[in-house]
Amino acid sequence: MTYINADDAPLAYTGQIKLYGANGFAGMRKAGQIAAAALDMIGEYVKVGVTTAALDQRILDFGIDHNAIPATLNYKGYTHSSCISINHVICHGIPSDKKLKNGDILNIDITYIVDGWHGDSSRMYVAGTPKRLAERLINVTYESLMRGLAAVKPGATTGDIGHAIQTYVEAERMSVVRDFVGHGLGRLFHDAPSIFHFGEPGEGETLAEGMIFTIEPMVNIGKPNSKILKDGWTAVTRDRSLSAQYEHSIGVTKDGYEIFTGSPKGYKCWPYE
Ligand code: MF3
Ligand code: CO
Ligand code: CO
Repeated sequence: MTYINADDAPLAYTGQIKLYGANGFAGMRKAGQIAAAALDMIGEYVKVGVTTAALDQRILDFGIDHNAIPATLNYKGYTHSSCISINHVICHGIPSDKKLKNGDILNIDITYIVDGWHGDSSRMYVAGTPKRLAERLINVTYESLMRGLAAVKPGATTGDIGHAIQTYVEAERMSVVRDFVGHGLGRLFHDAPSIFHFGEPGEGETLAEGMIFTIEPMVNIGKPNSKILKDGWTAVTRDRSLSAQYEHSIGVTKDGYEIFTGSPKGYKCWPYE
């Protein structure tokens, strides 16, 4: 794999890994903080009887108020400001007029473009009171993201990240989705490298200071297999088991990482309080 100074790179996917300097980190910090603030904001509106379309509208409005454009709007034909994935939906759930029911667990995934930079993050929410196993799934998924993050430093590999996530999740008797990955991002929404949430230590791409990417593990209670519904977007578990996801956008620093999408309110895992 070759690395390229992001300032010299074309604004396109070339497969090369872009390395960013102080201005890239500053841009990502700003975009990431607005995405995180929106995820902080939306929690109080996640309730039984609320539609995911209404939540999506709030995410659009919040973006407009903060000079942030939802990156998903008109992205490859997608026409919403967020992805909202309920229960057995793994990711790319389309906001709709369906009302949330008691015990529904949902991932809300927001990417805003701010001054050309993409801040991409997602968290889990619950309408009403979750079942005990659903709450455990949420906790395991959050912890798996933290384990993946802890593996990030120059000289480590993407395989180290995936291995940290996979071994933890499988020890908890849950499974890691293989069909969707984390990704480089910056001025592009989805760039090299792919960040697999499973793998072997030392394999994959070597991490270097200045890399910017997401880690966004999707964890299922049952088997890892997914399928896409006829709408062309909604990814669900084949066995219909519950699925959860957390996502941060991060940058690799001299001796570790910076989270761009940390909560301004200090929220970590659900419940946010
Ligand atoms: N935000 C998602 C991610 O984490 C991508 C959503 S693309 C969409 O990469 F088109 F489905 F919205
Ligand atoms: Co992402
Ligand atoms: Co996302």
